[in-house]
This record gives sequence, structure tokens and C-alpha cells, in this order.
Amino acid sequence: MTVTTATRAPLDVEPLYIGPLKVDVPVVLAPMAGVTNPPFRTLCRRFGAGLYVSEMVSARALVEGSEKTWQLAEFGADERPRSIQLFVTDPNSVGEAVRMLIDRRDVDHIDMNFGCPVRKVTRNGAGSALPWKRKLFQTIVRSAVSAADDMTAGRVPVTIKMRIGIDDQHHTHLEAGRIAQAEGVAAIALHARTTSQWYSGRADWDEIARLKEAVTGVPILGNGDIWWGEDAVRMMWETGCDGVVVGRGCLGKPWLFRELVDAFEGRPARTAPPWGEVAEVMTEHADLLVEWVGEERAMKQFRRHTSWYCTGYPVGREIRRLLATVPTRADLAEIVATPDPTVLPAAGSESAIRGHSQGPQKAKLPEGWLDQRDDLVHVEDDGRAVSGG
Ligand SMILES: Cc1cc2nc3c(=O)[nH]c(=O)nc-3n(C[C@H](O)[C@H](O)[C@H](O)COP(=O)(O)O)c2cc1C
Repeated sequence: MTVTTATRAPLDVEPLYIGPLKVDVPVVLAPMAGVTNPPFRTLCRRFGAGLYVSEMVSARALVEGSEKTWQLAEFGADERPRSIQLFVTDPNSVGEAVRMLIDRRDVDHIDMNFGCPVRKVTRNGAGSALPWKRKLFQTIVRSAVSAADDMTAGRVPVTIKMRIGIDDQHHTHLEAGRIAQAEGVAAIALHARTTSQWYSGRADWDEIARLKEAVTGVPILGNGDIWWGEDAVRMMWETGCDGVVVGRGCLGKPWLFRELVDAFEGRPARTAPPWGEVAEVMTEHADLLVEWVGEERAMKQFRRHTSWYCTGYPVGREIRRLLATVPTRADLAEIVATPDPTVLPAAGSESAIRGHSQGPQKAKLPEGWLDQRDDLVHVEDDGRAVSGG
């Protein structure tokens, strides 16, 4: 790839420590349900450095022995560190789920999801609705941290990922951050939107700065709207956060992890790859999926990535349509070979929104949820309704 534009001076970037885990470049792949499976993590890892978190798995479903959930909690043969996100709603299953993940999957890091805005989840008081109930939140975090500590004496750090709060009138992040720190989490990630914002508007990075000021004893990771390398450096400059969590920016663009390393090390930004290179990455991604789940399931899963890979590239409607229904690996190779391999994406498309953009919409909460903050009322949600955070 050709080097063109200059980037800003390197930050004096320190490695990120999440408990005993040293992350050389302070970048974390955001957990994304239906996306960050082992093949996708392998692909992203090949381009860059950082920590790559699994899809979310439900604590309760793990404890109940759901085969499907245990499959989601699998790792690539040489994948280290093994990082997984737990969806937790009740204090009863969390400790057991943590113990099982350490015992059966030998995980190196457990993150907990307190950021999901999906209505089926928040109406049960789970996901991003949960930190409002501060005692319940504290109990859950405590159970997870003590289960991990008891088994591994601190080898497996527990972290949390949350939003700013439920809406502008009900912020929870500063208090939840202080509670989580006191309970011994190893890092706190903030997606700088409220539940009711969903994915709309812009992430409010000022709230990352506020959290960083309020919670000083553990690394704070900023999340929201990092579309290319420069955004990550800017987020760290502007908020003082210790690392970044990158989600939608790498959809159809796993080479973002190389851009992030370049940006943090002060190297000039590269031009976006020509279509021919994108085509190679697409086939590599499909091959990894085929190896993981077999061709039929792989192609089904891969189809959801195709429009992201095409973002900005003038490949035409017909190619997009064919890719969206591509039945086999051989067909994929044929389709991606059709457009001119030298074409570049339209200017500015590197920061085009990929993945979710919906919202705002009023948060759906259990009846009376906001009236009481210190009860331990919870619904035992098995997390099957969840499709994202
Ligand atoms: C398809 C998709 C699935 C997601 N699934 C999860 C999830 O399982 N757990 C979670 O904490 N966040 C989830 N998220 C939210 C992201 O981790 C991230 O917080 C959000 O996309 C904002 O970051 P970004 O602007 O870099 O995308 C999901 C987002 C997307 C687009």
C-alpha cells in the first residue's frame, strides 16, 4: 500500500496492562455478537496488535450447559490470550460461569457486558439497564472477580464494558466505574453513549474524560466512533484514556488494526487498499470460516460481512447483490475477481459508518426500575434474546 498523508506526532503510548496481561498497543477488538468469532479474531490479529475479545456468551446458558453457548466460547488452537465476554443478569450464575470458563476453556481474560441496549434485554433489567441497580451491579461484579481470583490468584483479570447510562437524566458510568474499581476489576471500557441513544449521533468522548478523572486506579478504555487510526490517537489525546476499544470500524476492514499500530507508532497513514487486496482478505476470511464451521455455515455467516467489505468501493450493485447471496467459496472467488482490482474506495469512505446506526429510542425498562436503586431485584435472563451491545 502506498504511503500518502502525514499523521500527527506519536503519542507517548504506554503498553496497556489489564491485570497481568500486557497489551503492547493499547487496542482492544470490541466484543460483537455474531461477528467476533475465532476466524474473525484470527484475521484481525494477523493485521495488528492488541487484545481480541470473543463474542458475548450468556453466563446462565453456560451454567445450564447449553451446547450452542459452549460452542460460542471456543478459541482458535493457538489463540492467546483467550479473552471472552460474559453476558450476566443475575448474581447466582456468574461465579459458576467464571469458574467453568477458567476450568474448561482456560481463559486469560473475562469481560462483562453492561452495555447492551437491546430492548428484549433492558426490559429484563439486564445489559445497560443493570448498573442503575448499583447494589445488584456490585454483587455481580464482586462474584465474578472473587471467582476468578479464588481460582487463579489474579492470573485471570475481570473487566467491565458499559455505557454512560440509561439516558441523559440517568447517567450511571461514574458511580458504576467507582464501584467496579473498588470490587477489583482490572479495566473499565466505556461506550460513550446512553442506552436510549443506541448507536445514533456521536459518541460523547467528554464522558470518557470524565470517567478517567473519576476513576484513577484502573485503566479506562474509550469506545465509540473510531473509524480509522487517527481517531484512536485523537481519542487518547482528548480524553486521557489508557486504551481504545474498536468495534464497527473494523467491519469489512480488519486492516484497521494495522492502521492503529501505524497511528500509535506515528507512521503516516496509508491509503486504503485497492479492491484486489480487499478481495484477497475476503477470501482469506471465508477460508478461515470454512475451516472453522464447514462451507455451508461459513458462507451463510460470511454473507453478512460482504456489504461491509464493499463500503466505498465502486464495484456496482450487481456485485453487491451477488455477494450478499454468495453460496460457495468457489463462487466467492469468481465474484470478487470481476471488478477492476486497482480501484480505490471513494474519498472519505474510511470513516463511513458500518454496522449498527439505529436510534435514538427510549430505553425499555422493567416497570418501576428507576424508582429504586439499591434492591437486588433481577430477572433470570438466559441471554438468548441478545444480539449485540
Ligand atoms: C454487530 C454488533 C454486535 C455487538 N455486540 C456486542 C456484544 O456482544 N457485547 C458488547 O459489549 N458490545 C457489543 N456491541 C457494541 C460494540 O462492542 C461497541 O461498543 C459499539 O459498536 C461502539 O463502538 P464502535 O463505535 O467502535 O462500533 C456490538 C456492536 C455491533 C455493531
